[in-house]
Amino acid sequence: MSDNNATLTVGGDTKDYAVMDGTVGPQVIDVRKLYANTGMFTYDPGFTSTASCESGLTYIDGDAGILLHRGYPIGQLAEESSFMEVCYLLLNGELPSQKELEDFTTTITRHTMVHEQLSAFFRGFRRDAHPMAIMVGVVGALSAFYHDSTDINDPEQRRIASHRLIAKMPTIAAMAYKYSVGQPFVYPRNDLSYTANFLRMTFSVPAEDYIPDPVIVDAMDKIFILHADHEQNASTSTVRLAGSSGANPFACIAAGIACLWGPAHGGANEAALNMLREIGTVDRIPEYIARAKNKDDPFRLMGFGHRVYKNYDPRATVMQKTAKDVLEKLGVNDPVFDVAKELEQIALNDPYFVEKKLYPNVDFYSGVILSAIGFPTEMFTVLFALARTVGWVAQWNEMISDPAQKIGRPRQLYTGPTQRDYVGVDKR
Ligand code: CMC
Repeated sequence: MSDNNATLTVGGDTKDYAVMDGTVGPQVIDVRKLYANTGMFTYDPGFTSTASCESGLTYIDGDAGILLHRGYPIGQLAEESSFMEVCYLLLNGELPSQKELEDFTTTITRHTMVHEQLSAFFRGFRRDAHPMAIMVGVVGALSAFYHDSTDINDPEQRRIASHRLIAKMPTIAAMAYKYSVGQPFVYPRNDLSYTANFLRMTFSVPAEDYIPDPVIVDAMDKIFILHADHEQNASTSTVRLAGSSGANPFACIAAGIACLWGPAHGGANEAALNMLREIGTVDRIPEYIARAKNKDDPFRLMGFGHRVYKNYDPRATVMQKTAKDVLEKLGVNDPVFDVAKELEQIALNDPYFVEKKLYPNVDFYSGVILSAIGFPTEMFTVLFALARTVGWVAQWNEMISDPAQKIGRPRQLYTGPTQRDYVGVDKR
């Protein structure tokens, strides 16, 4: 709690509101008593000025382009750590010792299989279903399978549910892909790393085993790290809101997946690559820049701009370098990468983008990498969901452990009709 108070005068009545300090970042005004004091609510659609919770997981300084997980900069984690280590860090608050990391990795590895009956759910979908539609359905269906980890008031059951979600997500994501291409599901293999196992479950076929290339595994692992958590974004807030009623953890994560699917959120990586492909060649870039600037055209430069970052998204820096490494390793000369780099340069020097502080975000280059690895665009958001699952469960756990949390229940400014009497249909 800060020594300062914020003073608000409403209708001549002045009241103080406590100002709360975080460890770093903006202070917040505690307005919980506002309605009781004044009979008024605050109005903040899109939560642009509202802190919905206290959190010790992730810190973003959008102006400086800083992203920290439990205090560690994302660049260091992406370059020096592994996705398993980052999962442990997000869930437990500290980096693991060697032994803790091995135990955690073993636990996750041992949970990668899904109940055999779950595979029946896939067959209920059309083959051309978007894999995110399948993910929403199948992850939601997990809530009907693992009854021994759904008592949210038991920390041990929450821990098991969290491990199950992190472990089973790659299996389900790979199954969604396999179903869409009409190939048999591939079971997990415990001798492979989390990420190598996922790549093998995705790309292996009975006729030919897939041997994951270390450069590709490393790139994929980095992509997972870069997407692991991102503070109170829309899907995380959705998971928290769903979870605030005490709902089943698997169902809460399905809600997060549904939210992530939207093109303004996780769907942007798919939209960004589609846009880059549509642009096709460097000479067409000015046409698209002009469209993005035209107020009468709904077109936006996908992979550009962010609610929080008003600077280069630190994840995009790692992503650009990873894209270069992967394309070089695979010997891919994708013109889309040239379009992306040139588009970035032009936009970064254009007054429209400069004044609005619109910079490349994490999604700008990720599609180029994922496409080079062999993923179809529909799978991009699925990979985001896979990686974000750890953030969702860590935030969900944090919320349930926080005594200050209540069921999420925003208020509104009512603008509909005032009370009126019902008129029978014969009199209308
Ligand atoms: N291209 C052109 N103009 C843009 C763009 C863009 N990508 N993004 C924002 N603007 C303009 C917008 O038109 C508005 O202009 P004005 O003030 O003249 O009306 C101004 O910039 C502010 O935009 P906003 O929509 O009010 O900002 P926001 O914070 O609500 O939206 C955003 C953030 C990410 C939804 C938006 O920048 C966007 O739609 N970007 C493209 C989609 C995208 O790449 N999303 C991925 C986000 S990162 C991954 C994730 O977190 O899921």
